Amino acid sequence: MQTAPNDLDSLWMPFTANRQFKSAPRLLVSADGMYYRNREGEKILDGSAGLWCVNAGHNRKPIVEAIQKQAATLDFAPPFQMGHPAAFELASRILDLVPRSYSEVFFCNSGSEAVDTALKIAIGYHRVRGEGARTRFIGRERGYHGVGFGGISVGGIVANRKLFGPMLAGVDHLRHTHDLARNAFSRGMPEHGAELADDLERLVTLHDASTIAAVIIEPMAGSTGVLIPPKNYLERVRAICDKHGILLIFDEVITGFGRLGASFAVEKFGVEPDMITMAKGLTNGCVPMAGVICRKGLYDAYCEATPENGVEFPHGYTYSAHPLACAAGLATLKLYQDEGLFERANSLAPYWEQAIHSLKGTRHVIDLRNLGMVAGVELEARAGKPGARAFDAFLKLYEAGILTRTTGDIIALSPPLIIEKAEIDRIVETIAEVLPRVD
Ligand SMILES: Cc1ncc(COP(=O)(O)O)c(C=O)c1O
Repeated sequence: MQTAPNDLDSLWMPFTANRQFKSAPRLLVSADGMYYRNREGEKILDGSAGLWCVNAGHNRKPIVEAIQKQAATLDFAPPFQMGHPAAFELASRILDLVPRSYSEVFFCNSGSEAVDTALKIAIGYHRVRGEGARTRFIGRERGYHGVGFGGISVGGIVANRKLFGPMLAGVDHLRHTHDLARNAFSRGMPEHGAELADDLERLVTLHDASTIAAVIIEPMAGSTGVLIPPKNYLERVRAICDKHGILLIFDEVITGFGRLGASFAVEKFGVEPDMITMAKGLTNGCVPMAGVICRKGLYDAYCEATPENGVEFPHGYTYSAHPLACAAGLATLKLYQDEGLFERANSLAPYWEQAIHSLKGTRHVIDLRNLGMVAGVELEARAGKPGARAFDAFLKLYEAGILTRTTGDIIALSPPLIIEKAEIDRIVETIAEVLPRVD
C-alpha cells in the first residue's frame, strides 16, 4: 500500500487550510470499524463518522462485497431513458423508512446536488400548477446546504458565501435559533426559541406568500456547529408553510440514517416536510450518493403538466443512481436493519448525553449540546481570532488519537453508531484532558 505521497502540492484540498495541512499532513491510509489508521501506523478513533457519513462504521464487509459484486456485474447504466433494477429497489427501500405520505425518490451524487434538485423541484412544481411567480426561497442564517450556487444562496454561513457574488436572486433568510443566553447546556431540545419560527411570518409579509416557493432548513443544523431545534420550532415552521402554500424542505444530509436515533428527523420529530434531502449515511459514505424524497403530489403535478412520452422533469446527473452507489445503498440499509443501528443509536443516546455533559466546567467550554448521537462542544473564542482555539483543539485531539470536526469554535462529535460505551468515555476523557492544554 502506498502511504507516502510523492508530492503534496498538486492537490488543492477542499475546505482545508492547505498550507497548514501540507506543512504537517494528516494522512489516513486504512480504516476498520470505529478506527482509522494513519500513515504513521497509529489508530485514530473516529469521533465524526468520517464526515458525518460512516454511520455503520468503516469497511463493513457486506457493503464492500456488494460494491465488488456490482462492479463486476454492471459497471454503469445510463440513467436517462434507461434504468437498472437496483435503482428502483433502493428507492422503494428508502420509502420504507419514511411515512407513507412520501412516494418518490430522485437520486443524485452529493448533498449539494440534492439541495439544488429539491430547489428546482419546488420552483418547477409551482410553475406547472400555474403559480409561476413562486420563485423565492427562504433559508436560515447559519444554515449549511452544500456548496452549489443554490446551496450557498439558501445557506447562511458567511465564509461560504462572501466570495461568490450575488448567487441566486430572491433569497431571504430566517433568523438562526442559537441562543446561548437562554439555552446554554441544554440536554436534548432546548426550551426556548419556538417563537423564532414566527420570523417566517415576517418574511411572508415582506415578500408576499405568492412569491415564495419553499423554505429550506436543516432540522438539526450540523455543519454550523450542532444547533438543536428548540421544542415546537419545527412544528411551527410547518404550520406557517401550510398556511401560505409554501413547500418545506428538510435538509437531512446529516440527520438521516440513524444519526438522531431514528431513520430520519422526520420520524424523530414527527414533522413532515414536502421534501427530504439525503446523502452521506445513505451508502455509509462508501460511494457518493444522495437523493430527494418527495411527498405525494409533487411528481404527479409534473406528470399532469407533461404529455405521456414527454420528460416530466428536465434534470438529472450522469451518475444519478449509479449501479455501485445503489449496491452500496442497498447493502447499507440492510446492515442498518440487521444490526438495528437506528435503535442502537437511540438507546445509546442517554449515555452519550451524560458523558458529553460531564465536560461542563472544562476549560474554555461555554456550551454543551446533544441530540441522538450528535454533540456540540462550544468553546469561548480567542479574542479577535474566531475558530483558532477549536482548530488547535482539533489538532491536539488528533495527536491524542481522536478524529473530530470543528467549525468556528465548536467541536462537533458524531461517531459511527456502532460505538461502544468505553469508546464514548475515551472521546470525552480525551477532550477533558486536551482542552486545559489549549491556550
Ligand atoms: C445539511 C447538509 N446539506 C448539504 C450538504 C452538502 O453535502 P455534500 O458535501 O455531499 O455536497 C451537507 C454536507 O455536510 C450538509 O450537512
